[in-house]
Formats: sequence, C-alpha cells, structure tokens
Amino acid sequence: MDLFLRPWLIAICTGIGLSTTVIAADMSTTAISERIKPVGNVHIEGSTPITVTTTSSRTGQAIYDQYCASCHNSGLMGAPKKGDADDWAARVSQGDAVLAKHAIEGFNAMPAKGTCMDCSDDEIVAAINYMIKPN
Ligand code: HEC
Repeated sequence: MDLFLRPWLIAICTGIGLSTTVIAADMSTTAISERIKPVGNVHIEGSTPITVTTTSSRTGQAIYDQYCASCHNSGLMGAPKKGDADDWAARVSQGDAVLAKHAIEGFNAMPAKGTCMDCSDDEIVAAINYMIKPN
C-alpha cells in the first residue's frame, strides 16, 4: 500500500470507530434512562402518594363502623346518635362546614377525626353524612 494513503485510511477507520462509539453510547443512554424510569416515581415523603386508592376509597359507612360507632351508636358521653334526627337537628343547623370542622379538629369530648388519624377530611365528611342520615 502506498505510504501516502495509509494515514488517510487510519483516519477513516478511526472516524468510523468513533461514530460507532457515539451511537452505542446514545443507545445505552436511552436504555439506561428507560431502565431507571421507575426510580423517578419514588414517593417523596410529604408529597401525595401515587397510590392513594387504599385510603381514599373507604366509604362513610366503613369509617363510621370502624371509628365512630363506639361512641355514636349508643350516644356515649353525649355523642349524637347515628341516624337520630332529634340528636342531630340542632347540630346540622350549624352548617356542614362547622360539623366537618368539629369532627376533624375535635370538639369537647369528640376526639379529632374520631381517632381515625389516617382518615382524609373527605372520609370524615363521608362518615358524617352517613351518621346524620335518618335511620
Ligand atoms: C370517643 C367517642 C367518640 C368517637 C370515637 C367519635 N365521636 Fe363524634 N362526638 C363525640 C361526642 C361526645 C360528641 C358531642 C360533643 C359535644 O357536643 O360536646 C361528638 C360530636 C360529633 C359531631 C357533631 C359536632 C358538632 O358540631 O355538633 C360530629 C359531626 C361527629 N362527632 C363526628 C364523628 C365522626 C365522623 C367520628 C368517626 C370518624 C366520630 N365522631 C367519632 C364522641 C365521639
């Protein structure tokens, strides 16, 4: 081979080699970002969890039965009884917002959230709606 051509050949070969490397790196970057994708879905403490279905899907009745019934079935400590229109009339007339506030924050012997500390505000409201419905 002509001595003059040899450097050119080397240059071309090196060029092909390098561009192949670049393409390979690109592909692996895509592959890596594809692989690490689920890591980006990690739940950060304090943010809204991605799977909220377990806590947000409980019905008012389920919350009531588990947390509120112990006091509100019998009227323990003066708790207004479930479905008792007389017990609830004056309380309901305060308006939904006051009822919700008292149930969520607590009110005299009524404990905050009726002790259901992992209940969302919506779940407490659902439980209230369930218990004020006339039997
Ligand atoms: C430890 C007993 C107890 C538990 C458990 C309890 N409550 Fe109560 N609740 C009370 C008592 C007592 C009152 C009456 C407080 C008063 O009027 O002084 C009350 C009152 C209320 C009121 C009326 C507030 C108002 O403004 O008149 C609502 C609404 C209520 N509770 C909702 C709930 C819900 C919802 C739960 C369950 C998630 C629950 N309670 C669990 C004892 C309880």
